[in-house]
Amino acid sequence: MANPSILILAGDGIGPEVMAEVKKIIAWFKTKRAITFDVSEGLVGGCSYDAHGTPLTDATMAQAQAVDAVLLGAVGGPKYDKLDFSVKPERGLLRLRKEMDLFSNLRPAQCFDALADFSSLKKDVVAGLDIVIVRELTSGVYFGEPRGIFTEGNERVGINTQRYTESEIARVARSAFELARKRNNKVCSMEKANVMESGILWRDVVQEIHDKEYPDVELSHMYADAGAMQLCRWPKQFDVIVTDNLFGDLLSDMAAMLTGSLGMLPSASLGLPMANGRPKALYEPVHGSAPDIAGQGKANPIACILSFAMALRYSFSMLDEAARVEAAVEKVLADGVRTADLMGPAGGVPVSTSQMGDAIVAALNASI
Ligand code: IPM
Ligand code: MG
Repeated sequence: MANPSILILAGDGIGPEVMAEVKKIIAWFKTKRAITFDVSEGLVGGCSYDAHGTPLTDATMAQAQAVDAVLLGAVGGPKYDKLDFSVKPERGLLRLRKEMDLFSNLRPAQCFDALADFSSLKKDVVAGLDIVIVRELTSGVYFGEPRGIFTEGNERVGINTQRYTESEIARVARSAFELARKRNNKVCSMEKANVMESGILWRDVVQEIHDKEYPDVELSHMYADAGAMQLCRWPKQFDVIVTDNLFGDLLSDMAAMLTGSLGMLPSASLGLPMANGRPKALYEPVHGSAPDIAGQGKANPIACILSFAMALRYSFSMLDEAARVEAAVEKVLADGVRTADLMGPAGGVPVSTSQMGDAIVAALNASI
């Protein structure tokens, strides 16, 4: 069988630095586990704009469609703030999501024991936290038409449209229920059915799919604002949260910060199965391009490395190897290895991006 194929799009800011550490892990799999990934690389975001005048070329888009999994670093930076909206770095990422039809975005928020003191919440509220937000990623107000800035009378009006079809809701609901069955069997669906028709439909369809296909899974519904409140108050009440594109954007940042470590969290964006049975997939850290620290060797590569672990799990069904990478990350954290973002009030000497990668490779070596 052909080697599993990966397209690396490191992107902007700290993207290339954190991706360099993932490449060490990929190299480790080749030499120590005899698992070879066919890796190609391309540009996305500002670096693609600099080279080609567009945040994503058609050729790179076609490459992304052809591989088993895409690994993305980060896009954007102040250098590109003034660009026309249509060529902003973020448009490259949104095009990948839309054209690959990556409708199910898994954003775990997990609190590592070694870091429970880092949260802005009390330790007992977050210690052991392990939840996943399933964010709908290819529809809703991010993509709905009409959209634009128009002139009405003597003033401008900005318009975006929240739009969801039943089938769009149904497919993301199914992916949340499937995931819940592999976890603690609980789904909470969040929308604003009290003010939005799209929210009423969302609630109905999620309930219908539940009753017909997943009656064994415990389902609850919350208004998204109350959900935000509950996430702060007692996040451990949740297992899987399923929500729309915009609410998922907000709630996942909030959930990430509960864990005290935005630099730690991975994500998977999954679509329909391809001919080889693997889902269309893109993996990326939840954090952004962090232009303020780019190029200084300060970035934490763990979110990107854990994103690769998600690729091992969801694209390549290498569950043991995924767990091995995750355990290596836990081990270095437990050993007190810290990048600058993980220093906390106690202080100490942080390791560089590259030293963190090396420490994880050393922990992997110790695991075999
Ligand atoms: C995210 C980001 C993106 C989004 C941006 C970079 C387009 O905030 O992945 O959460 O809004 O979806
Ligand atoms: Mg976001």
